[in-house]
Amino acid sequence: MEKREALYAGKAKSVFVTDDPDLLLLEFRDDTSAFDGKRIEQLARKGMVNNKFNAFIMQKLKAAGIPTHFERLVSDNECLVKRLDMMPVECVVRNISAGSLVRRLGIEEGLELTPPTFELFLKNDAMGDPLINESLVETFGWAEPAHLARAKELTFQVNDILKKLFLDGGMLLVDYKLEFGVFNGEVVLGDEFSPDGCRLWDAETREKLDKDRFRQGLGGVIEAYEEVGRRIGIDFTA
Ligand code: C5P
Repeated sequence: MEKREALYAGKAKSVFVTDDPDLLLLEFRDDTSAFDGKRIEQLARKGMVNNKFNAFIMQKLKAAGIPTHFERLVSDNECLVKRLDMMPVECVVRNISAGSLVRRLGIEEGLELTPPTFELFLKNDAMGDPLINESLVETFGWAEPAHLARAKELTFQVNDILKKLFLDGGMLLVDYKLEFGVFNGEVVLGDEFSPDGCRLWDAETREKLDKDRFRQGLGGVIEAYEEVGRRIGIDFTA
């Protein structure tokens, strides 16, 4: 596999084409952004930690029957993935109230949400990733209704798998964001799963162990990511 030109640079990852038209290379950078990119900092080891974290989770999900784009790790901060036709939507599931749900509805943080909620956001930086719904996705053709329905089903299946994985490590999966694409007609999980795109709290103390440490200036961001990894069995030195 040969790494070729950059296709796209996001806030925390860069995407490169390879000599195989079906495969892309993801490079996890140390850049950490919040508030729609208004705050950006470099956090040492973050690219490596998130790359290995994501690889571990994607492999767990694959083993549990979730189709993912992940192929293999290439280096400490790079991995190879299938080239998907991405849907421009973010699928968010919440088990406990936090973040934008709390701000939007004026509810308390930390309420157990039964059943868990499902929200869709449009991937559009200029518009600040607005909240949308299934009707808007269909009307504007952002995804085929059957593909969106499958993405929703997979998002909830991921919830069952990961809630248990993190609970076994003494943590609560508060919420998370997933992105999907289509490969040979099949809806496949894309992007990444790392503490950048989910909320994880210690089950006893409710200490925040995710990107909210960066958003809220709590410090110890990467140390928390490494702690989460350690609790679920990731060896970052491997
Ligand atoms: O900000 P909000 O509460 O809507 O975020 C819900 C979940 O989705 C959080 O875990 C957050 O980290 C994640 N998210 C993300 N990327 C975004 C928006 C939200 O990873 N652009």
